[in-house]
Amino acid sequence: MTSSFFPPQRTLMGPGPSDVSPRVLGALARPTIGHLDPLFVQLMDEIKELLQYAFQTENPLTLPVSAPGSAGMEACFVNLLSPGDKVIVCQNGVFGGRMQENVERCGATAVMVQDDWGQAVSVDRVAQAFADHPDAAVLAFVHAETSTGVRSDARALCALAREHNALSIVDAVTSLGGIELKVDEWGADAVYSGTQKCLSCVPGISPVTFSPAAVDRIQNREHKVQSWFLDMQLVMGYWGGSSKRAYHHTAPVNDLYALHESLLMLREEGLTAAFARHRHNHRALVAGLEAMGLSMAVAEPHRLPQLNAVNIPEGVDDAGVRGALLRDFNLEIGAGLGALAGKTWRIGLMGFSSSEQNVLACLTALEAVLSAQGADISRGAAQAAAGAVFSGR
Ligand SMILES: Cc1ncc(COP(=O)(O)O)c(C=O)c1O
Repeated sequence: MTSSFFPPQRTLMGPGPSDVSPRVLGALARPTIGHLDPLFVQLMDEIKELLQYAFQTENPLTLPVSAPGSAGMEACFVNLLSPGDKVIVCQNGVFGGRMQENVERCGATAVMVQDDWGQAVSVDRVAQAFADHPDAAVLAFVHAETSTGVRSDARALCALAREHNALSIVDAVTSLGGIELKVDEWGADAVYSGTQKCLSCVPGISPVTFSPAAVDRIQNREHKVQSWFLDMQLVMGYWGGSSKRAYHHTAPVNDLYALHESLLMLREEGLTAAFARHRHNHRALVAGLEAMGLSMAVAEPHRLPQLNAVNIPEGVDDAGVRGALLRDFNLEIGAGLGALAGKTWRIGLMGFSSSEQNVLACLTALEAVLSAQGADISRGAAQAAAGAVFSGR
């Protein structure tokens, strides 16, 4: 007999979704009201304002797309690109490859700038691509590459796009709320994110923001946007500036309560404090992992504090370790993706999951599971090393 589903209480320390704050789960369970109810329209306005804070922007076209991060990605590409456009796409992991797919499906041409997985996007190589392709209309790159745990220099890349009269499309799915992201100051034109990473919210929504230059491009398109659902001109009829809102689609009302609550939590904590918390917990985790004898896969200057790629020690059974962590400790960590499958683990410290308690629990569990596998690690050192970071010693 099929019955109600009661998931276990896991600790989510993979590449996302991350743990959802109980405050956010509480908001999700509040009574559903109509998506055109005047009170809901007020909530929508607050969400837009809170998103502007999170993105550090005054862009009026800032809203949550009613679908996961991949839809935010697609929204940026289909609205800004037209058939025949040339786009410089940076790839240093899985998600740059998805950008290429989006460009090609829009009938545009992708000029690929490839960097090794685990390396940041090379600003010099992008500058060379602009020199070789001065007609490029758009530069697209991933700020925080979740597949490898690497941060690229979004400020420098956006500046380069501006210098060459190109618009920038920035994937901030894993960066929003976890590391600095200054949309207006950096001059980013179309930025998309997700709710399931550093916002401590449920998966399934994609915050996006478009600069005035991007809006200008959208309003002066010759071709209709190929996607009806993601056409920003139509979506604006529902999310637009005036208080008169027209039906476009039925908004995920309760998910938006959740998003509102999570953004409120971010504003209460403050971006600076949230970034410092992510950095601090990351430093403690790395200290613990290294004391155990493990090594990080990414060079220090390019590491994401919210996504820690760890080299899997020689002879260790990757799936066996992840399975034991889940089964015996209710702890989820991520496998390597693509070229890094079987080579790295990805330990997330995102949003509500980024806590001192989770760092210590993860180190304890990993040490126990690796020891049981007979891995050559130092036992008992990790807690002390992480503890030293926490106590500032
Ligand atoms: C960098 C990046 N871009 C895009 C996505 C796609 O987001 P979603 O899985 O919510 O569709 C992800 C998801 O992990 C991601 O990490």
